Amino acid sequence: MRAIQLVSPSLNSFVAADLPEPSVPGHGQILVAVRAASLNYIDVAVAQGHYPGIAFPLVPVADGAGEILAVGEGVHGLVVGDRVALHPKARWPAGRATAERMAAMRGVSLPGVLVEVIEVDASSAVKAPDHLGWEAIAALPVVATTAWNALEAAHVGPGSTVVVLGTGGTSLTTLQLAKARGARVIVTSSSDDKLARARALGADEGINYRAQPAWDEGVLRLTGGIGADLVLETAGPQTFMRSLAAARQGGTVFTIGFLSGTVAEVDLLPVIVKSLRVQGNNTGSAEDLADALRAIAAHRIEPVVDRVYPSAQVADAYRALAGGGHFGKLAIALT
Ligand SMILES: NC(=O)c1ccc[n+]([C@@H]2O[C@H](COP(=O)([O-])OP(=O)(O)OC[C@H]3O[C@@H](n4cnc5c(N)ncnc54)[C@H](OP(=O)(O)O)[C@@H]3O)[C@@H](O)[C@H]2O)c1
Repeated sequence: MRAIQLVSPSLNSFVAADLPEPSVPGHGQILVAVRAASLNYIDVAVAQGHYPGIAFPLVPVADGAGEILAVGEGVHGLVVGDRVALHPKARWPAGRATAERMAAMRGVSLPGVLVEVIEVDASSAVKAPDHLGWEAIAALPVVATTAWNALEAAHVGPGSTVVVLGTGGTSLTTLQLAKARGARVIVTSSSDDKLARARALGADEGINYRAQPAWDEGVLRLTGGIGADLVLETAGPQTFMRSLAAARQGGTVFTIGFLSGTVAEVDLLPVIVKSLRVQGNNTGSAEDLADALRAIAAHRIEPVVDRVYPSAQVADAYRALAGGGHFGKLAIALT
């Protein structure tokens, strides 16, 4: 079967490959015809050699969606023809984080989804909302799971204030799910045009962090000096101290991203004095994704897929995500 492999850590190293096609699913397994994939920043980090411990050649890409072709013994609740989101944490069906559950990730420590047919644990496939097309479904696993866990961690509901940094996939999905919970959402971006698009998506306020580098002061102004219940911290060292400043007393800084690196000098005083909760996260379980997808179905949320690339242009999709000009998600069609 056709597949795409990354043969070395470089955006110039994608090659078409012919791999053996799985034919009969094992116990508890399903075969899925992959229809679409989407990129996350982690895929770019892997392809640029910024993620440790990768064995090449690797079938890349964590997030995918497809149609079930065959169901093995012992599989319940899924049948041939079901449309599923493939959860990238392949061995984390539910429950708390453990080292083993977090380590197994498609496109990182396991083969990814850029293949015609993939065999996966049925417990890592989640039925997709009916209203979504393939690229939209593929856009969800990492970002919807993470956004859901952020909102749950901070108990976000009506009257909460949420700040999301930038207009990448995780931030916009958090915006959409936070609005569905009745929260007020403030978005930061490098671009006024992207802020206008975020407002059209439901954002209540936008702050251009290029024009206003002290965006945390903007958040405090907009919240009457109180600060946000939740700050989704995607950027890392460049923003971390401001995220602490933008959070309210007892608020949550959900620390997920490293867009500007991983090493930060941190003043602990705001964490201590404001009783902040600095909460790390490593995606989450398939059950978390299922919860998020139920909310997405109930509110008929449409994920923001900025552009769909044909599989022959995978490298262009990676370059576009690395360049940061996108709004939301970039998807790859596998037909
Ligand atoms: N740990 C987890 O569970 C988890 C889950 C999901 C994602 N992540 C991480 O979260 C980060 C975002 O992931 P993603 O896939 O959503 O990324 P993405 O789609 O590539 O988002 C990139 C966007 O972030 C904004 N940005 C970049 N540098 C920034 C900075 N210094 N300050 C503020 N905003 C900045 C830009 O938005 P504008 O152009 O609007 O400024 C950029 O377009 C990545 O580091 C990723 O690895 C972690």
